[in-house]
Amino acid sequence: MFDGAENISTEDEGNRVKTGIPGFDELCGGGLVRDRSYLVSGTSGAGKSIFSTQYIYNGITQYGENGIIVATEERPEQIRENMMRFGWDLQALEEENKLAIIDACSTKIGIPSQEKYVDVRPFDIRSMMDQIISTQEEIDAKRALIDSTTSISFYLNEAARIRIELLKLSTTLEIIGLTSLMTCEIIDENQPSRFGVENFVTDGTFSLYYDMHDNVRSRSIEIYKMRGSDHSKKVHPYEVTKEGFVIHPHEEVYTHF
Ligand SMILES: Nc1ncnc2c1ncn2[C@@H]1O[C@H](COP(=O)(O)OP(=O)(O)OP(=O)(O)O)[C@@H](O)[C@H]1O
Ligand SMILES: [Mg+2]
Repeated sequence: MFDGAENISTEDEGNRVKTGIPGFDELCGGGLVRDRSYLVSGTSGAGKSIFSTQYIYNGITQYGENGIIVATEERPEQIRENMMRFGWDLQALEEENKLAIIDACSTKIGIPSQEKYVDVRPFDIRSMMDQIISTQEEIDAKRALIDSTTSISFYLNEAARIRIELLKLSTTLEIIGLTSLMTCEIIDENQPSRFGVENFVTDGTFSLYYDMHDNVRSRSIEIYKMRGSDHSKKVHPYEVTKEGFVIHPHEEVYTHF
């Protein structure tokens, strides 16, 4: 029985995909289970994109694992600029063919894209999967980020379709050897996902909270679910610093709702 971060089983720690995000890996037995997909959910501004991009960036720079980012909500240009604030030079990694950012945003909103990788049919999961598969072959990626599933889900509209299409996407990523994060925007912090199905088609859910208490907002993270792994069942505070996410695994938040 888990009773504090220090007692989490780490028996297959060596096989885990380390996020390298300070404080995170020790909350889940040493990192993510290889070739699985995880949901990162949170309200707007909770830190989903920063957390997930840090996973991709660390993968390349600390663990030699190339990465793919599928950008459905922000243009790649904006992502590069935002992440540069943390000193993460994504463009340099792209030039070395270690990172590919697929622009699935521009076409969707009807503007031209100068990007190398463009998803020309961004509302079509099949086309998105084909683009991910060819990009993965090109740069030998081991990690992926889909940021976000919510715009895809809005297009699919109905829970049953969202569930089957996201299951196809997460299964494809797993089969081709990508350990992935998918972000999911929520509006109610009591729910792990927006449409109530995204968390069922992924192997784990990490919930980011950004709550107001006594006029002060505080940030915390919970590993809501993680199939095939022991993990912390507590809610832990984190900060967004100038180096990105820093989670405090030995501290707990008791009253986040
Ligand atoms: N350089 C920085 N230093 C500290 N905090 C920052 C910095 N840049 C962004 N933040 C914080 O992170 C928040 C944005 O994080 P992020 O873009 O990851 O959120 P998100 O959950 O992806 O939001 P959305 O649902 O709108 O995409 C900002 O609102 C701000 O509070
Ligand atoms: Mg975001």
